[in-house]
Amino acid sequence: EKGGYDHFMLKEIFEQPQTIYDCLRGRLDAVAGTITMSGVQQYAEQIMQANRIIMVACGTSWHSGLVAEYIFEELCRINVEVEYASEFRYRNPVINKGDIIIAISQSGETADTLVAIETAKEKGAIILGVVNVVGSSIARISHAGAYTHAGPEIGVASTKAFTGQLAVLTMIALKVGYMKGTINEARYRQLLNELNEVPEKVAWVLNHHEHIKKIAEKYKDARDFLYLGRGYNFAVALEGALKLKEISYIHAEGYPAAEMKHGPIALVDENLPVVFIATRDAYHEKIVSNMQEIKARKGQVISVITEGDEHSASLSQDVMVIPEADEIVAPLLSVVPLQLLAYYIGVAKGLDVDKPRNLAKSVTVE
Ligand code: F6R
Repeated sequence: EKGGYDHFMLKEIFEQPQTIYDCLRGRLDAVAGTITMSGVQQYAEQIMQANRIIMVACGTSWHSGLVAEYIFEELCRINVEVEYASEFRYRNPVINKGDIIIAISQSGETADTLVAIETAKEKGAIILGVVNVVGSSIARISHAGAYTHAGPEIGVASTKAFTGQLAVLTMIALKVGYMKGTINEARYRQLLNELNEVPEKVAWVLNHHEHIKKIAEKYKDARDFLYLGRGYNFAVALEGALKLKEISYIHAEGYPAAEMKHGPIALVDENLPVVFIATRDAYHEKIVSNMQEIKARKGQVISVITEGDEHSASLSQDVMVIPEADEIVAPLLSVVPLQLLAYYIGVAKGLDVDKPRNLAKSVTVE
């Protein structure tokens, strides 16, 4: 049932070209220039008119909400807030009639997310579910939604569900942005093509797994890791750190790269690996200077960079490469080497990567 792979986690990482393809299939037509999502279309008017969108989720799903915040604000010019479901449900949040809530969940059974949307629904919010498990509680309670179609995710660490969520959320943002006119035809078309190319680019990244395995073996005994990213890749830094913590039990933290100077830089010495998600985007020069600062303090720079970026490579001790891609879709690619890095470090440490200690696949109690 692991399809020849040593672990479900590895199988699920390697399934991503197919699962992302399945998620786009039947929805995105790059030639015709259309995105078809019936659940979302039902509420299209309300979404376009909404003053804000609130994303509610936990863990990895919360990270995809953070990426989506940047994408929605850019493409749709709608204010987005991203909430931990557990905090949102208990603090008497301000919810107005007509607010759009997007609940993101792989299992569709996470207790905090479920109760958060139940409460918001009573207050008149429109609930859209971005869920993987068909017919799950969150899917049923949502007014509408879009499934991620990633198939069963068995490894406790979420991998293919995360990229499925990003694919769905990006399609919704593109659809709404295009309908609203906050992105023009050319940019819309370009991004449809970019999304369409993601499955084959993910396959390209996966082909470099042996190289990532070597990097994992080199750093497996580190006590702590720092993950830094900016912009669309900021949440990918958080996700990379979470994957490492869960699977290898190494302490890891993710930060927006510029926050480093406001505290975490005190941790940097020759024993600290710092993983930069430094693919080529609008903020690239900024993150390059953050890399230089870490290097100057003798930190060990490991970076995820765009193919051909010799300058960033020269600042790094080790690099993991992704193909050229628009910054909006880059997180779908840049997270993949980080999933593999966490996996191979966990394996190198002899740990049970499919069932890390203390973790449950879905948290149905608060
Ligand atoms: C991390 C992980 C958890 C889940 C979180 C939310 O690898 O699996 O952080 O992402 O428990 O679960 P869902 O998405 O099922 O609501």
